[in-house]
Amino acid sequence: MAEFVTVAKVNDIKKGKVKTVSVNGQHLALCNVEGTFFATQDLCTHDGGPLGEGELWDYDIECPRHGGRFDVRTGQVTALPPMLPIKTFPVRVQGDDIQVALD
Ligand code: FES
Repeated sequence: MAEFVTVAKVNDIKKGKVKTVSVNGQHLALCNVEGTFFATQDLCTHDGGPLGEGELWDYDIECPRHGGRFDVRTGQVTALPPMLPIKTFPVRVQGDDIQVALD
């Protein structure tokens, strides 16, 4: 079973913001949507854009490279040009810690 790992503190990411974190060699984009946290892979499936440097639009994360969007809840593409979904990871909050379950 996947193990939850602390990747950030709740106060590190303001509402509507994204932060890139690296843990166990994996790069993740951590998103705060109205106080709920989501984690996706950092790399865009279109051309490797850094999603962690992108902007959030409700539940969509927008790639800064060509404007592709993905739903952070499911990883599904919501705006082209990407064709393939991104990976998402389970997130939980324990006290002040944001924890992500990695593979
Ligand atoms: S690299 Fe992300 S939309 Fe092109």
